[in-house]
Amino acid sequence: MAALKKSGKMTSRRTVAKRQSPPVSLRYKKTIQQLQNKIKELNVWKHRLSMILEFGQKSSAITDLDDLLILFVDEAKTVLNADRATVFLVDRKEKVLWSKVAIGTEPIRIPIDKGIAGSVVSMGRLLNIKEVYEDPRFNPEIDKKTGYRTRSILAAPLRNSKKEVIGVFQVLNRKGSASFDSQDEEVLTLLAEQASGVVENAQLYLEIKKIAYETIIRLAGAAEYKDHDTKTHLWRVAQYSGILAETMGFPKEWIENIKMAAPMHDIGKIGVPDHIINKPGKLDPSEWDEMKKHSQYGSEILKGSDIELMQMSASIALHHHERWDGKGYPNGIVGEKIPIEARIVSLADVFDALTTQRSYKPAFSIEESATIIHSESGKQFDPKVVDAFSKSFSKFVAIREQFKKANDHPGQPAQPIFVVK
Ligand SMILES: [Fe+2]
Ligand SMILES: [Fe+2]
Repeated sequence: MAALKKSGKMTSRRTVAKRQSPPVSLRYKKTIQQLQNKIKELNVWKHRLSMILEFGQKSSAITDLDDLLILFVDEAKTVLNADRATVFLVDRKEKVLWSKVAIGTEPIRIPIDKGIAGSVVSMGRLLNIKEVYEDPRFNPEIDKKTGYRTRSILAAPLRNSKKEVIGVFQVLNRKGSASFDSQDEEVLTLLAEQASGVVENAQLYLEIKKIAYETIIRLAGAAEYKDHDTKTHLWRVAQYSGILAETMGFPKEWIENIKMAAPMHDIGKIGVPDHIINKPGKLDPSEWDEMKKHSQYGSEILKGSDIELMQMSASIALHHHERWDGKGYPNGIVGEKIPIEARIVSLADVFDALTTQRSYKPAFSIEESATIIHSESGKQFDPKVVDAFSKSFSKFVAIREQFKKANDHPGQPAQPIFVVK
């Protein structure tokens, strides 16, 4: 050792070691750079998480499945910086995956066991494919049809509370990067978890609404069944009322309610004796008085509920024969004192009665019926409702055409009024 010191060899080794390690300022610079990168990465996460939280808040206020899906795909595109995004829903009955809403592409329908999305359903886990054309599971048919070139796919399963796969959340072609990374996988997993709960709720909500509507139509049909002249009357009145409400600018939920409540307008006929309901020709004054009681009977059946839809139904049943000029029944109330839902259904009800054959009258043409409706503006009908009728007349004609075929098969409308999206 002494010899080494003497020869100066040790000193020169230390000098070499000193020269090999970077200077202190450079080491700090590197650490600072690493920390800055970490902060940048954390900021990206923070931004993404805040977007996801915002998305969760927005989605919890939406019950319409279409609106929800639009929100999901839009959000996924933004948060994941993807070129396209699609939410597929599983239809096990038809064995397909279908995209009700897709941003940047046309709706797609694919076999449940095909493609990357199909593999996500069968495997039940996320797939991150960096080069799809190198993956044998990729189905290039959609690219061929659309002319789009898919490069990378990130797809995660949507699950219901029973852990069954109910859909696939898929994003395509990350912008500004070759493919999706592990952080993107975590983000899509979070989005898919949120989307799963909301999609399942929305599907259940639709199912309940469908059951409620079916029940209403069948119960209201019990009253209609007594009246052999008006087999499909309820269905058309519901459609016409929905069109008027939409044209008048009512909110979506209110429009849905009036479409469900309108078929119950004559439910009180269940209390009117059969020989009066089905009497061919004109009713005598005492029979007419008996017939008029159906609005009060209907109200008695439907009133007292704290459900908004039932309250609206009771109001329509009671007031649908009131007139704008106060000459209607049962109470002879005037103008805007008549609830708006009843003023709408009143026009829809009369227009349908005019355009269909009854035991006491032939069917008028659509044009003749429209002339009668217009002539009653400010008398029988609210001028604002007549105005909405004029604006949406082509839609009334279309509904009438749809139901022409239905008249050949009483009780079976050509198309259901309430279509579950
Ligand atoms: Fe009625
Ligand atoms: Fe009616």
